[in-house]
Amino acid sequence: TPRVFSGIQPSGGLTLGNYLGAITKFVDWQDRGTHETIYCMVDLHAITVPQEPATLAHNTRELCAGFLAAGIDPERSILVNQSQVPEHAQLAWIFNCVARMGWMNRMTQWKDKAGKNAEKASLGLLAYPALMAADILIYHATHVPIGDDQKQHLELTRDIATKFNHDYGVEFFPLTEPVIEGVATRVMSLKDGTKKMSKSDPVDASRINLTDDADTIARKFRKAKTDPDPLPGEAAGLDDRPDVRNLVNIYAALSGHGVDAVLAEKAGGQLGHFKQDLADLAVEKLAPISSEMARLMADPAEIDRILARGAARARKITAPILARTYEIVGMVR
Ligand code: TYM
Repeated sequence: TPRVFSGIQPSGGLTLGNYLGAITKFVDWQDRGTHETIYCMVDLHAITVPQEPATLAHNTRELCAGFLAAGIDPERSILVNQSQVPEHAQLAWIFNCVARMGWMNRMTQWKDKAGKNAEKASLGLLAYPALMAADILIYHATHVPIGDDQKQHLELTRDIATKFNHDYGVEFFPLTEPVIEGVATRVMSLKDGTKKMSKSDPVDASRINLTDDADTIARKFRKAKTDPDPLPGEAAGLDDRPDVRNLVNIYAALSGHGVDAVLAEKAGGQLGHFKQDLADLAVEKLAPISSEMARLMADPAEIDRILARGAARARKITAPILARTYEIVGMVR
């Protein structure tokens, strides 16, 4: 069966970047019905940097609520928490022994996150992409919808699969395709159109959180950084205007219309008006999700039941793939 897998870290609240770059795509794949779809809260990845235990548990459940509120159906998709399926970590160890230090050292996200003080970074932060490869390959997933920032990790996943297959003389792990599609593959900060919108940005006004209420969403868009010029009539007019381009891309993604169609309609308009329209559209699309998340979070036991069922379903796929991997590697069972 062709299989879609993707994951999100419960390392903070969900942002509009996660929603447009990832979750809406997850829902599309599920609704298309052509592939088995598996979506994961990657709590083992989250602890590569320090996490307060109660906050991690809260964020994991809230992420699950976000998936559900956005339209992931736990019957049609497998919704799973990474640490509840031990085969992820078990395969990751094998991949730690397949991946090369040089490959890991070249990962831009490792370089950004560890910075100049790599001596103080956790070993897990360096090994992070090998665990990510294990997440994907423990399901033999064929397609992985992601935002632009995860592209290099998907290339590494293919390198690990290739090296494993080559070293052991097997055709076992597939070469997974990244799927990076649409206008919102890289949603930028509302305060700096050259920086990615991120849940870890210290400035809350730089991002829209899926838990923001309607007033907060509207205020953040109204106060988003822009320049004083009116909107151009076509996309080329956005070339040197990253802040404005970001808002137009967000509008296009939320409305489901292309950038060209949005600009054709709004050409010559003042940014002040456009930001108000964008705020209205965002509130219309996001407010129902945040209220549904709040409703679901009132019953954490139900969320835990959904995750337990997801883990049981996932293990039916992962256990045989791990068993076969151990056999290939020569582990006595
Ligand atoms: P994470 O948790 O940082 O982000 C989850 C997903 O959201 C996308 N994304 C964005 N898309 C557009 N604009 C943005 N500003 C933006 N910010 C985040 C990310 O590209 C991602 O698709 N390493 C992964 C989690 C992971 C994973 C996996 C993903 C672990 N195992 C296996 C796919 C397959 C991460 O940190 O994503």
